Parts: sequence; structure tokens; C-alpha cells
Amino acid sequence: MTIKIAPSMLSADFANLERDLKKVEETGADLLHLDIMDGHFVPNITMGPDQVAQLRKTITIPFDVHLMISEPLKYIDQFADAGADIITVHMESENDIQACIDAIVAKGVKPGLVLSPDTPLSVLEPYLDQIDMILLMGVYPGFGGQSYIKESTEKIKACRKMINGRLIDLEVDGGVNFETIKEIVKAGANVIVSGSCLFKGDMKENMKRFRKIIQE
Ligand code: DX5
Ligand code: ZN
Repeated sequence: MTIKIAPSMLSADFANLERDLKKVEETGADLLHLDIMDGHFVPNITMGPDQVAQLRKTITIPFDVHLMISEPLKYIDQFADAGADIITVHMESENDIQACIDAIVAKGVKPGLVLSPDTPLSVLEPYLDQIDMILLMGVYPGFGGQSYIKESTEKIKACRKMINGRLIDLEVDGGVNFETIKEIVKAGANVIVSGSCLFKGDMKENMKRFRKIIQE
């Protein structure tokens, strides 16, 4: 299985986003993971659709927009218009999940669903034939640089089984580093988000190291 790597902009220098985006592109990343936080759904604030639209002008790789906001349904059209290629919505959000999927699809964007660490896989069942991506959090959402929750590995394995051959990307976000990536990929993830580990030091070298470990 081809493994895609999605650097998370959360670990970029927000005063030099264009510079860091160019770096992301040069490393041959497959997707750009954009963490959208509102200070309500999670205790941190990042960016809104206007910033995403500005960033869209500087880079051509697909935008994987991870919504960690209350009432995501209200903002789906704006993030789609801003240039999102994939929009993922948390199952813990208060909005109707079917309505969120329908809104994303209506904009011609790929829909995905996210599970925080304590949310069971079973909640995904009604939507499996409608989504392009499942995002499993390896940490509690809100901040970069946290440690990977070990129990996530069994959940990844079970999720890959649940996907049962469907064309759904299984993305893992949070706590990915040179020690944890191997077991995450082995468990069945095919899209790997990395923030703090990839942005620390030489991004190109870090990307090479990730790819090497994956191939071993
Ligand atoms: C956390 C975010 C992640 C974050 C991952 O809520 O969803 O995308 O940037 O950061 P690392 O890779 O440092 O755990
Ligand atoms: Zn994320």
C-alpha cells in the first residue's frame, strides 16, 4: 500500500507560512494537513477560511482540512470555497453528521470523519459507504507535540478491518514520530500526519527518514 505523508501546518512558523509551505512542497509531501481550531471545540485557536484561501494561492498539493470547530456544518461551504480538497469533521461535533457529509459532497469535496481517542469505531458504521477518509486521532485534539496514545494502534487495526476493502483512506494524526510511525503503518494506516517531528530540524531529512522507516 502506498503511504501518504501529510505535514501538519500547526507546527509551521505562522509568521513565515509561505516559506514553510514551499518547504513542504519541496519535500514531496502528498497532502497538506490544515488544523482548524476555534478555541471552543478544542482549547486552541488557529486559522479560518480566509487564511486557507490565501495559502491555497501559494501551494498546489491537496489540502486536507481537519475541522476542530463547533458547528462545522456552518463553515463547510466557506472551507470548500477556500480550496479544501478533503474536509474531515469530528464525530463528537454537535451537528448532524449526515448533513455535514451531504454539505461536503455538494461542494465537490471529499468527506472524511474523525474520531477522538475515546470515541468508538462503531459510530462510523452508518457512513462507511459515503466517506473517502477516516481520521483516527493518536492524541486528544488541540495541540501539536503530544505523545502518541499507545491504545490507538489496536484501534487502527480494527478500523482497517472495518474498512473491509473499501476505498477509504485511513489517516492517523497526533504523536507520529520516528519511533511510532512503524507500528502505525503496520496497523493499517495509509495517510500519516506529522507536525512537530517533521518540522523539527531539516524537513527534507526527516521526510526521507520517515519514508525509509516505512519501507523497511
Ligand atoms: C492536533 C492536530 C495535529 C497536530 C499533530 O490536534 O490535529 O494535526 O498538528 O501534531 P504532532 O504531529 O506534533 O503530534
Ligand atoms: Zn490534525
